[in-house]
Amino acid sequence: MSIPADTWGIPASQFWLRGRRPERTVDYDAATGMWNVYGYPEIQHVLSDPRTFSSDTTRLMPAKVAERTSALSEGSLLQMDPPEHTKLRKLVSHAFTPKVVADLAPRIADLANELLDDVGDRMEMVEDLAYPLPVIVIAELLGVPGSDRHLFKKWVDALLQRDQQFSLVDESDEQVQQVEEAIAQVKHLTDYLGEHAAERRRAPREDLLTKLVQAEVDGHRLSDTEVVNFANILLLAGHITTTMLLGNTVLCLDTHPRQRDAVRADRSLVPSAIEESLRFFSPFAVLGRVTQREVEVGGQTIPQDQMLMLWIAAANRDPRQFADPDVFDVTRDPNPQIAFGRGIHFCVGAPLARLEGKVALNILLDRFPHLRTDPDEGPTFLPAPTTTGVRKLPLLLTPSA
Ligand code: HEM
Repeated sequence: MSIPADTWGIPASQFWLRGRRPERTVDYDAATGMWNVYGYPEIQHVLSDPRTFSSDTTRLMPAKVAERTSALSEGSLLQMDPPEHTKLRKLVSHAFTPKVVADLAPRIADLANELLDDVGDRMEMVEDLAYPLPVIVIAELLGVPGSDRHLFKKWVDALLQRDQQFSLVDESDEQVQQVEEAIAQVKHLTDYLGEHAAERRRAPREDLLTKLVQAEVDGHRLSDTEVVNFANILLLAGHITTTMLLGNTVLCLDTHPRQRDAVRADRSLVPSAIEESLRFFSPFAVLGRVTQREVEVGGQTIPQDQMLMLWIAAANRDPRQFADPDVFDVTRDPNPQIAFGRGIHFCVGAPLARLEGKVALNILLDRFPHLRTDPDEGPTFLPAPTTTGVRKLPLLLTPSA
């Protein structure tokens, strides 16, 4: 079945969710001053060569934007290149290995059950489960109170509402003002984390924030700004995308009833249903990279100092890689989806996101045998062109009349 992309408010630019293919797999966009890369092998090429394709996208920002955002990128793992990236990533990677993360399963299950104890005949998937579950988990790992999630939500929601794509060639006051508004929201978060980090310096605890304030790289402690920005990436990356994954998976199964029945009947399909959801609706739709030299990608010559937008969500629908890419198939095997990226920046939190998805989906299927979308109130998606994720998903829990 095809999905009603327009009715759900899926961002207009995401043509791959409307059954269309790109005219060119690598294409320069004069309106944004960036190169869009849509093809799977082309993106694989870029992600496997961090020396040529840098993650430090800040250096290409228009000057007016760069001077406002520079304080936020210091210590941001996502925007670092080796050797700094390698050293900083080591500080946290051990906290998220599949083995370490597996121990969190009982806590994740308790939280999901507690959250679902409050729902009645109906629920709103995002508000009742998909948002609070991952945000509480990552807050607890960092060591900040999960009960402060209402604060984070206010700040983070404001970041996700922007429906315009950022442009490198737009020097307008309007874009600068939008960047300033976004920074103001991030600043709330970094101030908040800064207070907790200062507290950990005074009174260390068994949490990630303490590890970050105590960590040494090449014999130096991280600066306050680095600690806070690092923690901020973990907090943001740790929940926004997983919220989308949980909502998207329930929606995918609801719109494909035979697949849903197959998963209900055979729970060993849950992990592959999560992988297929990540491929079909990839939450983090695009990654940015900057060329360090002139280079050829997909037959196009790209000069030095150009910004590439790697649309991993489109690559996950590339027919050269996936047979019947627009078909949602929970038994797809192999499923080399790249929703978590690839290469040295491959998502640190992938094992945690996969575990949260698995635990939450199993609990929903166990507790609600009649779980389905509300025919009178369909889902809506986040408007940001850089994301693919449900914003609202009203669900009915009782048998249909
Ligand atoms: C479904 C959920 C998630 C998706 C789709 C996702 C997606 C991604 C992607 C695509 C990247 C690569 C970025 C790049 O190459 O530029 C990434 C990196 C990252 N993710 Fe996730 N993520 C998810 C969940 C999480 C969770 C739960 C955490 C919590 C710890 C997390 C933390 C990070 C961090 C710290 C990085 C940076 C890694 C690096 O630069 O070395 N993510 N994520």
